[in-house]
Amino acid sequence: MRKELTMLSDSTVPADMPADEFRRAGHALIDWIADYLTHLDQIPVLPDVQPGEIRDRLPKSAPATGEPIDEILRDIDRIVMPGMTHWNHPNFMAYFAISSSGPAILGELLSAAFNVNGMLWKTCPACTELEQTVMDWLRQMIGLPESFWGMITDSASSSTLQAIAAAREMVKEHPIRQKGLFGAPRLRLYTSEQAHSSVEKAAIALGLGIESVQKIAVDRDYRLDCRLLAQSIASDRETGWLPFCTVATVGTTSTTSIDPIPEIADICAREKLWLHVDAAYGGSPAILPEFRHVLNGCDRADSLLFNPHKWLFVPIDCSAFFTRRPDILKQAFSLVPEYLKTDQDQQAENLMDYGVQLGRRFRALKLWFTIRYFGQQGLGERIRYAIDLAQSLAKKIDQHPHFERLAPTPYSTICFRAHPPEIQNEKELDRLNQQLLDTVNTTRQLYLSHTRLHGQLTLRMAIGNLHTTREHVDCAWNLIQECWKSIYKQVT
Ligand SMILES: Cc1ncc(COP(=O)(O)O)c(C=O)c1O
Repeated sequence: MRKELTMLSDSTVPADMPADEFRRAGHALIDWIADYLTHLDQIPVLPDVQPGEIRDRLPKSAPATGEPIDEILRDIDRIVMPGMTHWNHPNFMAYFAISSSGPAILGELLSAAFNVNGMLWKTCPACTELEQTVMDWLRQMIGLPESFWGMITDSASSSTLQAIAAAREMVKEHPIRQKGLFGAPRLRLYTSEQAHSSVEKAAIALGLGIESVQKIAVDRDYRLDCRLLAQSIASDRETGWLPFCTVATVGTTSTTSIDPIPEIADICAREKLWLHVDAAYGGSPAILPEFRHVLNGCDRADSLLFNPHKWLFVPIDCSAFFTRRPDILKQAFSLVPEYLKTDQDQQAENLMDYGVQLGRRFRALKLWFTIRYFGQQGLGERIRYAIDLAQSLAKKIDQHPHFERLAPTPYSTICFRAHPPEIQNEKELDRLNQQLLDTVNTTRQLYLSHTRLHGQLTLRMAIGNLHTTREHVDCAWNLIQECWKSIYKQVT
């Protein structure tokens, strides 16, 4: 067999792309990416396409025979670019601004080239150990104590699911892992009404059901009300629920409010509830000394996540998940079939033991590249700059007679609306602000998102992209004012 193979001429072996061709196309693609990132602000942030339009430009079935790589690369401009929403654009200020930096893109490229599956230490020692190392760097960078152990997951949603599964594993009244939920006490978990939908989604996925999630009202600043949390736990105990977990948020999705973690930690300690902190957006600024306080009290949490793919300049996906109870996490998830047993199981971490997924890619590379290239100081300077830009704009909004902010701005996401003094009808204000949002986004020069706060339609402007400068923010504010002028003229 071996002999036969060696006798085949090169051209008859169905092999990979030849190295020379890969090198040439790779250089061309890197050039394309460098140009793309350099000139992004010269193209619209939003595409001008209707649903189905991109699909119509694509063949209905796969090519039977191969196509030249140059043709494939050409179709990036011809087919893909017209349908692109550019998340890496300096004027992308919708949702949370995210960025993939140069070093992170290179790390991601290398990860695809290595293509390891780090399910076990043995299946790639470097993958496991680099991940453990960068997680420990991140832990130190945000000031968590050494008792926290970390791993990378794909998303905050997965990190929260894992945390709640671990919390559930702590329930002593019923062996849920073994027996399932049938016959188990009715479990209750607490989170604020401003928490991300991933908390409820985790409850659905874990079979707890949406009713297991008790949403606690927030105070004027959109922070979980601890008095109501304590009351809710007490009344649930009286009516037969078993409270087991609280999910607090540092940087809520709508307003970036920060729940009072020290007080919540007191309640969780007293009531013996697992405390999970979702700091998906709000955790990264804790690498700055002046923002370390946002994680006050988190040293007492059982688990915490933050997303480097939101605000640490690495491309999606990358969520940093920490827990003080890796033993419980492992107890919840570890299941080792014969074919995955190795001689090193007693001496090394097998990351498959700590979550749902078995196969795991080498995500640590992009973090390692990014942290090393910028350093903690460099990363911090970039985050600080974005926060400065947002704080300056917040002041301008406060000074404008036709605009108001609808929530505090602790980071760099501004919640605001147009509200001229003579219009008090809330329905009319909603209509005008929807029109403002649509008008701004229709220009495709700027992308804003919205939320509803106390029933009021609220515009959200999230600053934080690595390429966003003061000039971009000034232009964005000018555009918003221009669009508002044209709308206001029609109603007065
Ligand atoms: C506070 C918070 N938690 C969780 C998530 C979900 O993040 P992911 O897409 O990583 O699951 C978000 C997304 O914006 C968020 O703002």
